Amino acid sequence: MYDTATLRNRAQSLLALKAIDRVLYATKANPNASIVQLLQAEGVGMECVSRGEIENVLAALPQLQPSNILFTPNFAPRHEYVWALQSGVQLTIDNLFVLQQWPELFRGRELFIRIDPGTGRGHHEHVRTAGQASKFGVPLAEGAQLKQLAASIGCTIIGLHAHTGSGIFDIDNWVQTAHQLAGLAAQLGTVRTLDLGGGLGVPDGADLSTLDLGKLDEALLSFKQAHPSLALWIEPGRYLVAESGVLLARVTQLKQKGDHAYLGVATGMNALIRPALYGAFHEIVNLSRLTEAHTQLYDVVGPICESGDVLGHGRQLPPSSEGDVLLIGTAGAYGHSMASHYNLRQIPDELLI
Ligand code: LLP
Repeated sequence: MYDTATLRNRAQSLLALKAIDRVLYATKANPNASIVQLLQAEGVGMECVSRGEIENVLAALPQLQPSNILFTPNFAPRHEYVWALQSGVQLTIDNLFVLQQWPELFRGRELFIRIDPGTGRGHHEHVRTAGQASKFGVPLAEGAQLKQLAASIGCTIIGLHAHTGSGIFDIDNWVQTAHQLAGLAAQLGTVRTLDLGGGLGVPDGADLSTLDLGKLDEALLSFKQAHPSLALWIEPGRYLVAESGVLLARVTQLKQKGDHAYLGVATGMNALIRPALYGAFHEIVNLSRLTEAHTQLYDVVGPICESGDVLGHGRQLPPSSEGDVLLIGTAGAYGHSMASHYNLRQIPDELLI
């Protein structure tokens, strides 16, 4: 279930940032057509990472000019670049290989380049997308080579992009990225836009820190005073949609094994893989027993045939019964979009209220 008021609220809080010229939505967080439509109507642009995501956005928003979509593929096959250039989306290159091996594709084109600023951040190793151990981006140190390559091909680098990771609360991340990209922009001479990526953290039960958007705005405003010719973009996914969504599932069975009490629900890692994949914390509430005392410790598990199919370990909940409805919180980002048919179980339906 998604709450449209929360979606609008999060979009408005980012659109209100004075330092940011454009907010894009990383649709990988949740490509639901109604969410894409709602965010676009608020004034948010779209960022996509595959042909499938672009086609999904264009199906939801048939009036949208493809040039308003930022396409940031990574290790995609050549034909996806050919298709993207024909369709008119704004392409981001994240590997010099692409320019070296397929120069004929890019002659006369205006390109964004994804830069690896060197240090990845984020809530889990899997989501840190900078530094040598991550496969993303052109290392900052390859700036001179990039400039020479662009000149020899005859393409123009109009934007620089960096996304260091996901679930970040330290505003230095975006401020530092802005300064690093500005240094390279000065070297290249043709850059008009810096896209500072997404990664804006959302508080959960395990880490109740919040992101101070006011401070971020202030810091980036002073950056802009020093660099008035550069437009600043951001492209969050999680921040826009995570808190608007909850997963609802009925209790199926209970089991006691020694001192472990298991509370089973009708869907699990097939619907929300984040706890299994990243050890992510999602609040769990028994909606059928809101006023009852939380006197029982449960591992809340799904029906998937893996021991990792746990939505929450050791949760203090009211003693629960078959048929109760449990709510699993903060499921609007990377929930449905990462869901699978594993065990040939159904992916949950989606509903906006
Ligand atoms: N831009 C680029 C180029 C990205 O790769 C990503 C996320 C974003 C923007 C949006 O990041 P966000 O604002 O949502 O943190 N499945 C993981 C998150 C993986 C994010 C991958 N890239 C999770 O559930 O935590």
